[in-house]
Amino acid sequence: MSLREYTRRRFALSENGYRNLRRSTAFCILYDISMIVPVMILFMLVCDVMGDNRFDYGLEPWHYLVMCVVSVVFMTATYRLQYDSTYFTTYKESTQVRIGLAEKLRLLPLSYFGQKDPTDLTTRIMGDVTMQESAMTHWFPQLIGAMIYTAAMGVLIVLFSPVMGVAALWPVPIAFAIVLGSRRVQSGFTRRKMERVLSVTEGVQECLENMRDLRANDAGGRYLDGLFAKMDGVESAEIKGEFASAAFVVSAQLILKFGIVTTAIAGGYLLVQGSIDLVVFIVFLILISRLYDPMNMSLQNIAAMISAEYNMERLQEIEDQPVQTGSTEFHPDGYDIVFDHVRFSYDDRTEVLRDVSFTARQGEVTALIGPSGEGKTTAAKLAARFWDLDGGRITVGGVDVSGIDPETLLSCYSIVFQDVTLFNTTVMDNIRIGRKGATDEEVMEVARLAQCDDFVSRLPDGYMTVIGENGAKLSGGERQRISIARALLKDAPIILLDEATASLDTECETQVQQAISELVRDKTVLIVAHRMRTIEGADRIVVLRDGTVGEQGSPRELMAEGGTFANMVRLQSMSDGWSL
Ligand SMILES: Nc1ncnc2c1ncn2[C@@H]1O[C@H](COP(=O)(O)OP(=O)(O)OP(=O)(O)O)[C@@H](O)[C@H]1O
Ligand SMILES: [Mg+2]
Repeated sequence: MSLREYTRRRFALSENGYRNLRRSTAFCILYDISMIVPVMILFMLVCDVMGDNRFDYGLEPWHYLVMCVVSVVFMTATYRLQYDSTYFTTYKESTQVRIGLAEKLRLLPLSYFGQKDPTDLTTRIMGDVTMQESAMTHWFPQLIGAMIYTAAMGVLIVLFSPVMGVAALWPVPIAFAIVLGSRRVQSGFTRRKMERVLSVTEGVQECLENMRDLRANDAGGRYLDGLFAKMDGVESAEIKGEFASAAFVVSAQLILKFGIVTTAIAGGYLLVQGSIDLVVFIVFLILISRLYDPMNMSLQNIAAMISAEYNMERLQEIEDQPVQTGSTEFHPDGYDIVFDHVRFSYDDRTEVLRDVSFTARQGEVTALIGPSGEGKTTAAKLAARFWDLDGGRITVGGVDVSGIDPETLLSCYSIVFQDVTLFNTTVMDNIRIGRKGATDEEVMEVARLAQCDDFVSRLPDGYMTVIGENGAKLSGGERQRISIARALLKDAPIILLDEATASLDTECETQVQQAISELVRDKTVLIVAHRMRTIEGADRIVVLRDGTVGEQGSPRELMAEGGTFANMVRLQSMSDGWSL
């Protein structure tokens, strides 16, 4: 792996981010080198003032003045360059990384979201990228700059006096070895801390989202007790992590301090012996004092980078996920959906669909029925390639969906999900998601067909009313009608309706079904429903049973067979005929 590849993976950087990091590191080095200049001026001044013959530069005060001014200008200029290149470009890179991650998430199969908690993903996009930002603005460029500065100073010192050079520099490799050697221990602490922080964040999120159910079940107190215990866990993990990091860094910094002692001892000895004179001794102490500060900083930076490694790994993990790819060229021969010996499991263990084969024809309404948890929703979503199959294949118009780009494929589907998702924006915008660029009139027309008119007119700002997170200000049936309006607006050739009218009252359902039946002509319609009246107009019934197709045929055929479907119809007729 090349250095470029390695650095990019290590910091989860884009190509542009890598170039920026390289540039900002170069400017950091330049800035650190500019810091050596005042030391050199001081060195010359001391030599001149002390009148040492070996280093008598014979410079006038105005020479020093000019050198000081030049040095200040040089330092200011390099500082400015370094600042611009690290901070401004890094913030730009952070934005790019966040956009890149969001783009990547958009392309990932839904199975990925089943494994990851949304809070975890949010933390990666916001928190982990912030850590990456710190690594790029502070830790890494400063570390490299300081190391080059230290190397330059080290060479100067050794050239000046090899014995004192050794006396000053011996602790450097030991100090760095201590901090670098602590990597495994520190990584372990960081990992545990992050996991606990994440578990608390998820807990808080879950608590807020499910406040209603917690209160209804009088379980708020118990839930909070669990959450508080997790918070205590974070506290102890943070203290331990901080302690571990501090123990290594402080020990390393302490070892560095021994360098000053050994330099003073060695210098004193050489001075007494007459091997060096007072000037050399003083100059040395000046150089040494400028040597350890950046090194102390470097040790802290290394520790910070070690603890940020986990954050970078989490970012890289998203980058490494395989995306669902496929051809954007999709020219189906009609829109028949064919399930051909489909096998599927969510977790590679329990098969939800074992062997499912049926055809949903264009121009017909196919109803998928069966007991709860049997895989109806799963089958409907597989038809739109929400997940890839474990076996068999699904074709649309003769084209295998596994070879079609998910977005291209989805452009052919209007879907109303069982669990409606709405956005915290206006009714108008929520419906318009169905077709970008639809006019207000078009939106209102489909809203009327989906029986939204009535309740929207009662909202304070009508179609411009903001409906709260996931439509919190609306009833279940109202949310469902908005979702239906959205699907009607999209007007795609394939329509998937998963319990689309389950929350509506009988009258409303009849009206909405009329609207849907107007639009479903010549389309492929796959309906999932429990209520028999919802599917009474279906052309074909497919009954899922034990992960396979138990029976299929027209309602008339299945009634005649007297199997599961006939039994379900009989049971529901009995319950419909109930009385108080
Ligand atoms: N995202 C998921 N990850 C893991 N398992 C899942 C997921 N979604 C559903 N399942 C499981 O797959 C099985 C089929 O679920 P599915 O939602 O398809 O059933 P369904 O027939 O639509 O049920 P219902 O009539 O209650 O809506 C269930 O056992 C369910 O627990
Ligand atoms: Mg379902």
